[in-house]
Amino acid sequence: MPTTFRYEDDCLVCDGVALADIARAEGTPAYVYSAAAIERAYTEFDAAFGSYPHRLHYALKANSTLAIASLMRRLAAGVDANSVGEIEVALRAGFAPGDIVFTGVGKRPDEIERAVALGVHAINAESAGEVARIAAAARTGRTKARVSVRINPDVNAGTHPHITTGVRGNKFGVPIEQALALCRDIAFDTSLRLVGLHVHVGSQILEVAPLRRAAEALVALTRALSDAGIAIEHIDVGGGVGIPYDGGRGLPAREYAAAILPVVSPTGLKLLVEPGRVIVAPAGVLLARVVDLKNGGGPAEIAVLDAGMTELIRPALYGAYHRIDAVQRRPGSERQYEIVGPLCETSDSFGNARAMPPLQVGDVLAIRDAGGYGSAMASNYNRRLLAPEILVENGGWRTIRRRQTIEDLLMLESSE
Ligand SMILES: Cc1ncc(COP(=O)(O)O)c(C=O)c1O
Repeated sequence: MPTTFRYEDDCLVCDGVALADIARAEGTPAYVYSAAAIERAYTEFDAAFGSYPHRLHYALKANSTLAIASLMRRLAAGVDANSVGEIEVALRAGFAPGDIVFTGVGKRPDEIERAVALGVHAINAESAGEVARIAAAARTGRTKARVSVRINPDVNAGTHPHITTGVRGNKFGVPIEQALALCRDIAFDTSLRLVGLHVHVGSQILEVAPLRRAAEALVALTRALSDAGIAIEHIDVGGGVGIPYDGGRGLPAREYAAAILPVVSPTGLKLLVEPGRVIVAPAGVLLARVVDLKNGGGPAEIAVLDAGMTELIRPALYGAYHRIDAVQRRPGSERQYEIVGPLCETSDSFGNARAMPPLQVGDVLAIRDAGGYGSAMASNYNRRLLAPEILVENGGWRTIRRRQTIEDLLMLESSE
């Protein structure tokens, strides 16, 4: 297996392209992704399900930059969209409505109308009220909406509480004990077609057990539906497979598939899976430059970067760990650094006491595993401009989103 990011003579390269060259040409902060790594991750995940009828619906929320979405389409993925914005991106990337599943707590009326009018593959409904609104939109549009019910199976994914989504009482999905009655209502509504059951219990999950339990809950419900004479087309087990941010083992795709397939295959139903992070996160880095070095009176020297929580919010939001590498390693023994962003928030920090080769102002660092939930969660807080995104492909690289300018930012505003 080729290593996407590796050192060649103390110089960090991405598929053979020196990251220092990209930083010089594009400036920092900047996101860099490897097309080959994305393709490999997708292919490995897809192959893990073998010949069982299945489709990967890449979760656009992880990274919906147009060129990344187009790459996923070329790989023959479907998508999971979580807003009408992501649906529009998918269409512009060349996906057909039939390639899209639409999930999301709190879909607005216009979002429901758009999804119904397009005839997306499935709208993953989150409540009885939402089902009624989808039915009304279908009646108005004189069509039949394809609906799947998102179940809350009361399974604790054991991941960070901010990204646990399948526990009783939280806002996601329909409580499992209410689901059968709702499915019956859908099945008997002439403006709706019940096509599937859906579950997503959280993200960055590294144990198969909760993912398997969630799939078991769906399969049990499928049997109850079948006993009631109601047939569906698919089971959608959501996303959630985590990655080894510490560079360790993670949850290999084949282990995940080996846990899910024996549960789902007795149904014979098509399996949909919505991986996001595992496909794109390891394929990307955020390049950032050291803009200041100071002694804050603590044990470690403080390295202040030109990227912070505006570019990559995961550390501030979840206390998430990301490995950090020098793009050009200086000689000398390692030192301890606290690596922080420039924003006036103490949580704007990428790591305490990180052992790094000696740093100087102007050095470029690569924050690893930033290809998912990085640029997609970026903001303009402090009027900071969105970083460009670069795709490394076939031994070269190109800008797939240019750096935002102050004119771009102010275009939407009036001074009166
Ligand atoms: C409904 C749904 N599907 C798929 C995903 C993708 O999850 P992950 O990136 O962990 O694979 C998410 C993310 O939270 C989600 O909410």
